Amino acid sequence: MKRFTKTLLGATLAVSMLAGCTGDTGATTTGGSTGGSTTSTTTSTTTDSGSSTTTSNEGAGKKVGVSMPTKDLQRWNQDGANMESELKAAGYEVDLQYAANDVQQQLSQIENMIAGGCDVVVIAAIEGSSLGEALDMAKASNIPVIAYDRLLMNSDAVSYYATFDNYKVGTVQGTYVKDTLDLDNAAGPFNIEFTAGDPGDNNAGYFFNGAYDVLKPYIDQGKLNVVSGQKSFDEVATPTWATDKAQSRAENILSSYYADGTNVDVWLCSNDSTALGVENALAANYNGTYPIITGQDCDIENTKNMIAGKQSMSVFKDTRTLASQVVKMTGQILSGTTVDVNDTSTYNNGVITVPSFLCEPVFADADNYKAILIDSGYYTEDQLK
Ligand code: BGC
Repeated sequence: MKRFTKTLLGATLAVSMLAGCTGDTGATTTGGSTGGSTTSTTTSTTTDSGSSTTTSNEGAGKKVGVSMPTKDLQRWNQDGANMESELKAAGYEVDLQYAANDVQQQLSQIENMIAGGCDVVVIAAIEGSSLGEALDMAKASNIPVIAYDRLLMNSDAVSYYATFDNYKVGTVQGTYVKDTLDLDNAAGPFNIEFTAGDPGDNNAGYFFNGAYDVLKPYIDQGKLNVVSGQKSFDEVATPTWATDKAQSRAENILSSYYADGTNVDVWLCSNDSTALGVENALAANYNGTYPIITGQDCDIENTKNMIAGKQSMSVFKDTRTLASQVVKMTGQILSGTTVDVNDTSTYNNGVITVPSFLCEPVFADADNYKAILIDSGYYTEDQLK
């Protein structure tokens, strides 16, 4: 049986718990390119918390393509379902496709959406840099493209980007570790390992850097000791965010560096699918003090693990909020009205800086999950049993 330091989980956190999207930075953009033609867009202030379903008929006669990366990970199923129901409620015809984490499949699905008469295409890319041909086609057909959650790279055919504040997700995780271990006051040293996301996903670097930037001073001081020595993004990345890949890397680390009884105090994981791999590896290969483990998404399995004390925290990104925001932006683009953005400087894709709407990530743990996940109707209590 593992020992588990519940006291660490109970530590007070100075982490923001704001829900919903922020829309009040008031920046101005004129750079929204819609399929090659430039629209004049100004940022508006929005107070919309973003989770209501539109009931208008604004989408009548319009078709929207929604390209999702995979059904393998829970969140994309929710994202796709939310997008489909919100778009349909607003009167749009919807072409929703999942690409089984296969870039070629995603490419041809998007090309079919364009050839099939979609008026707007919404894309959550498998690999942000690999969809150039489809994006060129959208541009040539004057079809606006919205990058969904993950930025589309190296193309000027991206009209808008809607996501959560990705760097902040990482800082929430890093700050949790810092506060829970009381790194400013505790003597340490503490042992830490990192597991990050897919190098093909532009978000993954933001998450990792957000967390690492908080923890780097303590690593530099020797208060946090990366026992495996693996601390660059490339060394700790997990292709396709796959649980089994995160698990086998964690197993290798445990057998190489911790088999002698060394404790791992923290395992900083960028999201829930990778955290699950680490949790599986620990269950089978580790007898020391159970570490602090971070995550992101509040997937069902991970929320159950939080409740059971096997994962310390997660970062909740309400997929309903993001879907509502994207449906709203779709309507604004198609009606030629002001498109809500609240960030016009962060997300340069290598060619253009894409006008973006950043939603706010929310800290979640075993103490607040009921309020965030159950009271809000995201999950039922039964789903978490
Ligand atoms: C998303 C995360 C998700 C990860 C794996 C990222 O792009 O932002 O929410 O955990 O992909 O699906």
